[in-house]
Amino acid sequence: MVNDMDNIAGTLQQSLIQIITSVLTVIGVFILMLTISWKLTIIALVTIPLSILVVAFVAPTSQRLFGRQQAALGKINDQVEETYAAHTIVRTFNKEEDEEKEFNRRNHQYYQSAWKAQFFSSLMMPMMIFIRNVGYLVVAVVGAIQVIHGQITLGNVQAFLQYTNQFSQPIAQIANLSNTIQQTIASAERIFEVLDEPEMDDKIKETPVLAGKNLPKVEFKDIQFSYTDEPLIQDFNLKAPRDKMVAIVGPTSAGKTTIINLLERFYDPQGGHVYLDGQDIGSMTRDDLRKHIAIVLQDTWLFTGTIFENIKYGNENASDEEVYHAAKMARADAFIRELPDGYQTVPDESASNISQGQRQLLTIARAFLADPEILILDEATSSVDTRTEVLIQEAMNALQQERTSFVVAHRLSTIRKADQIVVVNHGKIIETGNHESLMNQKGFYAALYNSQFAGN
Ligand SMILES: Nc1ncnc2c1ncn2[C@@H]1O[C@H](COP(=O)(O)OP(=O)(O)O)[C@@H](O)[C@H]1O
Ligand SMILES: [Mg+2]
Repeated sequence: MVNDMDNIAGTLQQSLIQIITSVLTVIGVFILMLTISWKLTIIALVTIPLSILVVAFVAPTSQRLFGRQQAALGKINDQVEETYAAHTIVRTFNKEEDEEKEFNRRNHQYYQSAWKAQFFSSLMMPMMIFIRNVGYLVVAVVGAIQVIHGQITLGNVQAFLQYTNQFSQPIAQIANLSNTIQQTIASAERIFEVLDEPEMDDKIKETPVLAGKNLPKVEFKDIQFSYTDEPLIQDFNLKAPRDKMVAIVGPTSAGKTTIINLLERFYDPQGGHVYLDGQDIGSMTRDDLRKHIAIVLQDTWLFTGTIFENIKYGNENASDEEVYHAAKMARADAFIRELPDGYQTVPDESASNISQGQRQLLTIARAFLADPEILILDEATSSVDTRTEVLIQEAMNALQQERTSFVVAHRLSTIRKADQIVVVNHGKIIETGNHESLMNQKGFYAALYNSQFAGN
């Protein structure tokens, strides 16, 4: 894509050089023509207003169409960028189909404006050539008559005709430049190729459903997984009871996010099974699976739209009241109402109107509205200012009520209340228990906790 950008820059640079050369050529040739015959020069010059007329008519029209094409392309790019950057969110909220529909709509608009723009701009060149040839012909005929009357030598007419050609060529070239620039846009389309990457295998495995009472909500059973040849997760077993909070802690690169990825089926394990309510998630479609899950990540993702729309993304069928309620539950309502435009505020890219922590509250509100059975918080409080951290902690606690939740956290103070704390290192569980029992063990967890406490 950087390469595409370079292409575009290169073309623009080249075009500028071409325009300068063309203008200089026109001036030079004009002077030379005048030295041969002013009469013939006037005839040759008549082609210029004709050409200008064509340019004046065709160019603005094609430029207008071209502008429309650019705008349509821009809209596509916006959407692609947003959904590509946030594909995790788009997927977990099962919005792939909606986003795809929207993409098709925008793509159709682009198609419509593109072919019109291309058609119109390609009219230019043939028309310019026609005018040039007519001019050439008239100069030749008038020149011939003058030779017959002995007013000019044949050699001069011959030279003049050459100049006529050289004269009109750069003019046609200038007119044609807009075409070249247009073709550069094709470069931008390469971005779309990325999106054409094949989808992950969504094949449904037939596996028996676990039977029995008191099944855990989620169970990882004998999981083996690696991204590369190097084994990462080995013999991983974990039961997450219904409506309880499971905290996953451990050093960076321990495999915490990987475990979450397996639960979301962003990856499938090479060995073992993940069960949801006793059903192997490998036998569910990803859409079905993700209906049960909502996720809040460290990187907050808000799309270009109002705060209201951003929250509503969690559940398009929600009523306005439900959206406000979710915001209240997420402790976001208060700050939203203080904004000049309230729920209609559009969070801007540089986040100058709302803070990182407030953005996080909005994503929590979105998860509230989705009302999932399973909630995943992966380092959700890691990049947040201390002022909003208390609010976020409150909001997350509220969100975890009566829900099975997985919380990955760096700051151990945030997960002290977890029903079950799982300590992982190098893809393996090395300790489990609650805060008290783990502290009493004086093992890895206790050391980690004490080091953080000493640090603060
Ligand atoms: N998509 C991936 N492809 C290859 N390796 C990965 C990928 N994601 C993570 N890893 C590697 O797997 C290990 C565990 O990563 P991760 O689960 O993200 O750790 P944590 O969330 O505990 O910090 C790391 O060494 C990381 O570099
Ligand atoms: Mg991680």
